[in-house]
Amino acid sequence: MAETLGVVETNPLREALPRTRVPDPCTVVLFGATGDLTHRKLVPALYHLARGGNLPSEFAIVGYARRDWTDEQLREELKKSLAKEGDSDFERFWDQFASHIVFAPGTFDDPAGYAKLKQRLEQLDSSHGTRGNRLYYLAVAPEFFATIIQQLGDAGLIYPAHQESPWSRVVIEKPFGHDLASARALNREVSNVLDETQVYRIDHYLGKETVQNILALRFGNSIFEPIWNRRHVASVQITVAEEVGMAGGRGAYYDTAGAIRDMVQNHMMQLLCLVAMEPPVDLSADAVRNEKVKVLQALPKWTEAEVYEHVVRAQYTAGSIQGEDVPGYLQEKGVKPDSKTSPYVALRLTLNTWRWADVPFYLRTGKRLPKRATEIAIQFHKPPTALFEPEEDGTSGANQLVLRIQPNEGASLAFQAKIPGSRRRLQEVRMDFRYGTAFAVPPPEAYERLLLDVMLGDPTLFTRTDEVDSAWRFITQILNAWEKPSAPSPVTYPAGSWGPPEADALPARDGAHWRRL
Ligand code: BG6
Repeated sequence: MAETLGVVETNPLREALPRTRVPDPCTVVLFGATGDLTHRKLVPALYHLARGGNLPSEFAIVGYARRDWTDEQLREELKKSLAKEGDSDFERFWDQFASHIVFAPGTFDDPAGYAKLKQRLEQLDSSHGTRGNRLYYLAVAPEFFATIIQQLGDAGLIYPAHQESPWSRVVIEKPFGHDLASARALNREVSNVLDETQVYRIDHYLGKETVQNILALRFGNSIFEPIWNRRHVASVQITVAEEVGMAGGRGAYYDTAGAIRDMVQNHMMQLLCLVAMEPPVDLSADAVRNEKVKVLQALPKWTEAEVYEHVVRAQYTAGSIQGEDVPGYLQEKGVKPDSKTSPYVALRLTLNTWRWADVPFYLRTGKRLPKRATEIAIQFHKPPTALFEPEEDGTSGANQLVLRIQPNEGASLAFQAKIPGSRRRLQEVRMDFRYGTAFAVPPPEAYERLLLDVMLGDPTLFTRTDEVDSAWRFITQILNAWEKPSAPSPVTYPAGSWGPPEADALPARDGAHWRRL
């Protein structure tokens, strides 16, 4: 095994990813080094990777941002963020980790900044042995994506794609476009400089262990797949509920996006793909992504009237969450008082495939719901005849498989069992799998896995250009319908409730209801 960056011992706080392969020596350049994502997610993920022995000893991090900081200032700021994690051995490991971090000042559109960055990278190749390999991470507002990529190209910081070594790869954060036309325009600008193999469009949901486990459950077992279709499945529900509102000054950005762009276009479409896709021929990046694209291509094409019928958008009004009073969406800082942007969306769709024709998929996501919970529920048909006495516990009598993405990561299968005694009465019972107890370690952070994959050159968990395009095609028809003067206004729900009654009507049409979480 290659020498790694200062692994001292297993991190007692967070189990590292298993050390199967250590990436090539490389430098990670963080655009947006002073921003929230760098401090909250990216540097902690790199720190934990290093701490767990997953990074090579020839490794460096360059923070690139507009401020006039020194290396020392960046290190001090990052130290403050990391110290909050409560690692008891932090002081011992920090100095070693910090010696791999430097700051490069520059604006995103100034060629001089990139020329200096190039010099700094070359110095690091000599001082830290990083051998010219570069990972550029665009943790910046989306309007800078194209500019930065263009400047990297002009400064000679991107190598030809066919060259295996040294390599250059670019990670692009979300949102990738704000509708189909803008996503296509961005793709064109990206492809002027980069080959698709050098582009890593991130959707952090794919880095979650429980999301990857959807494929393991489906295709690593033989009992689920034969019943994973319209003959046996009555409906599928995907819920991504959050308690948070517009915390951390997000209101202004969020008001340009809403739940449909912020959650449905990316995270929920990815969950849908993994639940509905056909088995890939193998687990290679293209085989998996080919099957996902086919699901997106089978999404419905709706008229405006159908959009109004199948999609409900809503805004929360003032309410209370776990005893705390919270303002309504329109009163949040940064949100326009007459905004139509909606932090809640529910929709009912069907997929035009042999496997899923006519099976309703119900999707809902919202802010300021009673709790944080992401799950996928597969509802099977009821038995064709009722031999037993009707159950008295309010359950439907149909089997249900629930994949808990977060929290309480795991899965449970609900089935009927006879209540002891002389009568033939049934009660719903559950078989439950929990990550925490089965594997005795919490799943690694999504960003750790994803950063490691980029360094290893594995794009499986990143979205390909045709996936982004197909997802936007579906979402854009909804956005267009909402922009029509005849579109119904967003409905409302009190913060702390499970959404508007209009959303209940979506499954109710099929005689179903949203699961109580
Ligand atoms: C982000 C969205 O992509 O995902 C946020 O922009 C959302 O609005 C977040 O809160 C949810 O991520 P997680 O990992 O907490 O479920």
